[in-house]
Amino acid sequence: MIASGKTGVTAASAIQRCIEPKCGASYGINEWLYVCPRCGGLLDVEKRPESIGDASTLRELWAVRLSSFDPKDRSGVWRYRELLPFADDAPMVSLTEGNTPLYEAPRSARYCGLDSLKLKHQGCNPTGSFKDTGMTTAVTQARILGARVVVCASTGNTAASLAAYAARADLPCAILVPRGQVSHAKLAQSLDYGATVLELDGNFDDAMRVIRELTQDESIYLVNSINPFRIEGQKTVAAELLQQLDWQVPDHMVVPGGNLGNSSAFGKGFVELFELGLIDRLPRLIVVQAEGAAPFAHFFARHEEDLLNEESPLDFAVVDHPETLASAIKIGAPVSWQKAWRALRWTNGRVLTVSEQEIADAKAIIGRDGIGCEPASATTVAGAKQLVASGLIRNDEVVVAVLTGHLLKDTDYVINYHSETLYAREGDETEGAGIIARYSNHPKRVKAAKHAVLAALPG
Ligand code: F0G
Repeated sequence: MIASGKTGVTAASAIQRCIEPKCGASYGINEWLYVCPRCGGLLDVEKRPESIGDASTLRELWAVRLSSFDPKDRSGVWRYRELLPFADDAPMVSLTEGNTPLYEAPRSARYCGLDSLKLKHQGCNPTGSFKDTGMTTAVTQARILGARVVVCASTGNTAASLAAYAARADLPCAILVPRGQVSHAKLAQSLDYGATVLELDGNFDDAMRVIRELTQDESIYLVNSINPFRIEGQKTVAAELLQQLDWQVPDHMVVPGGNLGNSSAFGKGFVELFELGLIDRLPRLIVVQAEGAAPFAHFFARHEEDLLNEESPLDFAVVDHPETLASAIKIGAPVSWQKAWRALRWTNGRVLTVSEQEIADAKAIIGRDGIGCEPASATTVAGAKQLVASGLIRNDEVVVAVLTGHLLKDTDYVINYHSETLYAREGDETEGAGIIARYSNHPKRVKAAKHAVLAALPG
C-alpha cells in the first residue's frame, strides 16, 4: 500500500526550456519569464523523469489519493503533483479544481454518427471552465515569485478564473477584456471575485498585445496561457482523463481552439504520460475552430504535409478581424500556435473549422443529452460529426470531446437560439443572416389554470 503523503519532489528537479529546436536554452524554474530571452520562443517546463517515478507506482499512488481528504489529493490537478514543477511545500492556491465528469452522450453520439461519444466536461470546474486547472498552478507560481499584481487578457473565462484564484491567494488582480464582447455571466464572476476589470476598446488580440507590453515591468505577473505554469496545470487533465478510462487510450481527442493553450497542454500531457510508460500510444488530437476565427486551421490547411518535419513552418498568418458568436474563441492571433503545432506533430493531429450553424446545432444536441455547454465547447461535437462524415473518424472508434465551458456561461446565446433570434453576425438581423434553430424549444405562455397547464404538458 502506498501512502498519499510527501513525494520527495523538489522544484530543483524542474527547469524552463525554450521549445525552439534551434535554441533550446534552459532557465531556472523560478526565473520570471514568459518567452525565451534569447530567441523569443515559447517556454516549456521540463522535469527530470527520474524525479517523477515509475508508471505502476504513479498509478497506484493516484488511485489511493481518490479516497483521501487531504486538499492536495482532492484537487484534480494537485492529485497528479508528481507531474508538476513544485516542491512539496509549495503554497498551493486551490479551489478543488478538476475532478470533472466524463459522460457518455448517446444523443450526441447518434448525431455525429458514432456508436458512442464521451464528453469530458471541463465546465464543471469551480468557475465553470477548464481555465481553473491551469490557474491553480499559475497563481501558485505567482505566490512563489512574490508577484505584486496578477493580470490577464481574456475573452471572459480566463478572467473569471484568475479573479477567483487571485482572491483565494489574496493577490491584487486586473483583467483586460474586449469591451462589449464578453458574456454577462463571465463579467459578473470577475466583478464578484473582486478583480479590477479593465474594458478595452478593441478585441481580444489587442488586449493580449497590450498586456504583454505591460508585463515587461517585473512584479506584474501575466497568467495567460503563454505562461508555461498555466500549461502545467492544464496538462494534468490528460492524466485525470486516462485514469477515468482505466488507462485505455482513446482514438481521438477533440478540443476547441482559440489561443491554443488547451491543445498545447493536452499534447504535452499525453506525451509525458507516454514517456513515463503510463500509456502505450497517443490519441489523435483534433482541434476545432469557428470558421470566422480560424488562423490555425488555415495554417494547417497550407502545411499539413510539413507536420512530418521537426521544424515548424513560420508563415503563420493572423486573422485581423475574427468573427464568431462563440465569443470565448473569437481570437485571430493565438499566442501558443507553435506549441499546438508541435502537439499535432506528436499525435498526427488535425485542425478543422465549423460554421456558426453547425456550432448552434451541436450545442442544442449536447443540451438534449442533459449536459449542456457554452458555444465554444460545441465546436467539438460539430467537428466530430464532420470527421465521421468524411471518414477520418470511424463510427466504432473511441472519441472524447472536451467541453471547455458551462452552459450558464452564455445564456443570451441560448435564449436567442431557442427564441429563433440568434444571428450569425452581431448587428446583422437581415433575412438569411439568422441561425436556423432546428432544435429550438420555446417557452410557452399559459393561463394560471390547471386545465391550461395540463393541456400544455408533454408526453
Ligand atoms: N473554450 C472556452 C470556453 C474558452 O474560454 C476558451 C478560451 C477556449 C475554448 C479556447 O481555449 O484558448 O486554450 O485554445 N478562452 C480564453 C479566455 C481565451 O480568455 O477565457 P484555448
